Amino acid sequence: MTELASKLDDVTQRFAAAVDRANDEQALESVRVAYLGRNGEVTAVRRAIGALPPGERPEAGRVINDAVAAMERRLQAAHGELESRAFDAELAASIDVTFPSIRRPAGSIHPVRRIIEESCAYFVRHGFAVVVGPEAEPDYYTFDALNIPSDHPAREGFDSFWISDTLLLRPHTSPMQIRTMQQHRPPIAIVAPGKCFRRDAVDARHLFQFHQVEGLLVAEGINFGHLKGMLTGLCRELFGAQQNVRFRPSYFPFTEPSAEVDTTCPKCKGTGLLGSQSCNMCGGSAWIELGGAGMVHPSVLTEVGYDPDRYSGWAFGFGVERLGLTRYEVDDIRRFTKSDPNFLAQLS
Ligand code: DAH
Repeated sequence: MTELASKLDDVTQRFAAAVDRANDEQALESVRVAYLGRNGEVTAVRRAIGALPPGERPEAGRVINDAVAAMERRLQAAHGELESRAFDAELAASIDVTFPSIRRPAGSIHPVRRIIEESCAYFVRHGFAVVVGPEAEPDYYTFDALNIPSDHPAREGFDSFWISDTLLLRPHTSPMQIRTMQQHRPPIAIVAPGKCFRRDAVDARHLFQFHQVEGLLVAEGINFGHLKGMLTGLCRELFGAQQNVRFRPSYFPFTEPSAEVDTTCPKCKGTGLLGSQSCNMCGGSAWIELGGAGMVHPSVLTEVGYDPDRYSGWAFGFGVERLGLTRYEVDDIRRFTKSDPNFLAQLS
């Protein structure tokens, strides 16, 4: 019996060492066959029971069975370990979903686009249609039909990029007034946003490429009060009610009477001064111009075949970047062209 016990001890110890060495399922299976298989080491020990005195055999059988049970548990545990090691390896090789992600900065709607969308939404809410037209226009739509014949001094105010003798990059969105009125009968209520181009020297409030929002309403019985009401409403919408806006008598060949619409300079806050210097945004005037407006000139109505005795209308054209300067209190109009993510993020 003691001989059998020490043999069993030797087998279980070698078994344990072999299990520890086995680092995959196949190796583990070989260990099982070598020790617990039909011709394995434990079977050899079991055979030795027959040589024992009959009285010792049951006890010997129980000791061997206990040892086998322990060995099987050990194998089971080793299987579990291999499995979890394989799982860990798989996890390490794949994406760790608990790892903090890299933040990819999301883009935002550009402030110029936002002003265009909000302005259009305001007019659409009041029953206007949005129309867009070409950025390269014949001089007929740009000037002649707007009561600015080729010898008219007002053309000098639109220092333009000419493509040919008669085609130019539009210096304002007003050509859309003509295009719309030539295609439709009154009543007309449109808003026309878009890019404009002028050979202007660039400074804190001028760009050579910028945007305008044009508006036109023509029907019976339209007067200047309607214009003032709609434009005041637009400014309230974009800036809030506290922002100062003024209508200043002015001149455009295509409107009579005409006005320019100004608002408190967003840079010097209407003081005209930056420290002891005069403000470089408003030139010390304390106001910046948003754009022009007026009652559509009878000559323009006649040009498109409308009866000026029956119909009247108002029109306006605002600089979108100018609206943006005011809305966002920006110190220089050139910022709108730079795509600086820090600047844009502040306004989004
Ligand atoms: N087109 C003019 C400009 O760019 C602005 C303007 C003035 C537009 C009066 C209008 C208007 O529609 O009625 O300077």
